[in-house]
Amino acid sequence: MTKPETIFIASGNPHKIEELRQVLQPMGIELKSTQDFPDAEEVEEDQPDLEGNAMKKARFWFQKTGLPSLADDTGLEVDALDGAPGVYSARYAGDQATYEDNVNKLLSELQGKENRTARFRTVVAFVTHNEEHLFEGACEGKITTEKRGEKGFGYDPVFLPEEYQKTFAELSSDEKNRISHRGRAVQKFLEFIG
Ligand code: IMP
Repeated sequence: MTKPETIFIASGNPHKIEELRQVLQPMGIELKSTQDFPDAEEVEEDQPDLEGNAMKKARFWFQKTGLPSLADDTGLEVDALDGAPGVYSARYAGDQATYEDNVNKLLSELQGKENRTARFRTVVAFVTHNEEHLFEGACEGKITTEKRGEKGFGYDPVFLPEEYQKTFAELSSDEKNRISHRGRAVQKFLEFIG
């Protein structure tokens, strides 16, 4: 496809926006986000899987802005919990749950369980006037028995990426981005728009 001049990201999260801006700017691509459309309604993430939510958000924002639109959805899949919290990661401990509530619930559900393997999975959807694409990135690891580290967000303090001795919350943001689910999905997208 021809390289777009401007891309829209369906996110108001300043971390995600800045991260993406840093890689798109050298490619000569401008980034707009929901921060540029403060009056727009929220898209409900009510689909049964990450792919559905990401595509729903990207389609909605493409219709609204006419710009090639990017949206992502992420879940933590824990094997001993049959893939939970998965697509429900943001509201695992309830609709108003904080990151801490969710982490506490996860540790308590896993208490006494020997198998702690898990993965973060991100799906990025990209919608233009004539194309729709999905890109996936995953990061394998284990859930610790206690929280460690102050950086990052969400489940970072209890996620130990494979072959690392540090949790995501103990890694610098550069180190995390290099190996993370979202970093890998975004990398595939960048290779695509080349
Ligand atoms: P979202 O799709 O990026 O909004 O992510 C949904 C939920 O997954 C968030 O509310 C977090 O709880 C969790 N999550 C997403 N990405 C990460 C991450 O990189 N580290 C830790 N938790 C994350």
